[in-house]
Amino acid sequence: MAPTLTDTWTLGGIQLANRVVLAPLAGIGNWFVRLQARRYGAGLAFSEMVSSFALHYGNERTCTELLRIHPDEGPVSIQLFGHDPDVMASAAERVAQAGADLIDINMGCPVPKICKTGAGAALLNDPGTAIALAEAAGRGSGLPVTVKLRTGMKPGDAKGVELARRLAESGAVAGLSIHPRHASQRHSGSPDYELFAKLVDDLPVPVLLSGGLWSAGGARRAFERTGAAAVLIARGGLGNPWIFKELVSGEAETPSTGEILDELHWVIDCGIQHLGAERAGRYLRKFYPWYLERLDITRQEKKALGKELQLAPDLDSVKELLAPQLAV
Ligand SMILES: Cc1cc2nc3c(=O)[nH]c(=O)nc-3n(C[C@H](O)[C@H](O)[C@H](O)COP(=O)(O)O)c2cc1C
Repeated sequence: MAPTLTDTWTLGGIQLANRVVLAPLAGIGNWFVRLQARRYGAGLAFSEMVSSFALHYGNERTCTELLRIHPDEGPVSIQLFGHDPDVMASAAERVAQAGADLIDINMGCPVPKICKTGAGAALLNDPGTAIALAEAAGRGSGLPVTVKLRTGMKPGDAKGVELARRLAESGAVAGLSIHPRHASQRHSGSPDYELFAKLVDDLPVPVLLSGGLWSAGGARRAFERTGAAAVLIARGGLGNPWIFKELVSGEAETPSTGEILDELHWVIDCGIQHLGAERAGRYLRKFYPWYLERLDITRQEKKALGKELQLAPDLDSVKELLAPQLAV
């Protein structure tokens, strides 16, 4: 019988409670965003991508902030990016010391700043280094290693498909997350679920699906249609932890205003704990629109409140601006 999203499974020997996963999200997927996904039922969470060089050279913020793992959030996979196998091994050792369960390597990021160093999606063109990086991460950490990659650099290019095959056959990876869009598409256009389903059939490791999973219904349909081992919730989970609950429980739920605001307050308090009030005040600005979007107020009201929140001088003012919403 075909697996369901709530079936347990193992990835690299790590037992996972279900097949609903928080995707890696740069600048977002810190310990409290991962803990939030976990609180709402996700079986695994990936971190935002972390520079292997910054870890290797002991960059303080990277080591303390990006490698921070909350005791209640596990299981967690820390995603690394880089292009040098020795540096990757050393960074992976730090990741293991920080308490991660798995390591993922980014081979799909299309951003020029990353690709021009030979990391991210540039590795699709350099399979020898890609495999050496995965082997090095396993050697350095002793942890199971996965890779997240795209199907190619641009339409017509199948280098990602070929790399997926080579990685899976090399024995260096316990699983692959595949985002079946080309790097040149960035995050737009339709993911190629047909190609993805073929890869699920062909590859000898679990294959996790990323791309276009914006609603619980859509994610469930894509899971069933492709035979993916699990689904990676990315943009669909921004300010929407309820998507994890819906996928795990099978029941749709529209959160009340109180629940949305409680959740936003929880995020703000975690942000303060993580970065201190001043830095959190700047960092959290990107989170507000995601939660406002869900409130049952008019588009105009969302716009006006959103503007006030962006201009608020500190987080106490943010909380004061949100308070009247409860009375709406
Ligand atoms: C803001 C943002 C940050 C992202 N950061 C990462 C990252 O650090 N590592 C990674 O492998 N993918 C990253 N991605 C890609 C997502 O994990 C996912 O593959 C992509 O958004 C497609 O899924 P979706 O269409 O369901 O959003 C990012 C995507 C977005 C929108």
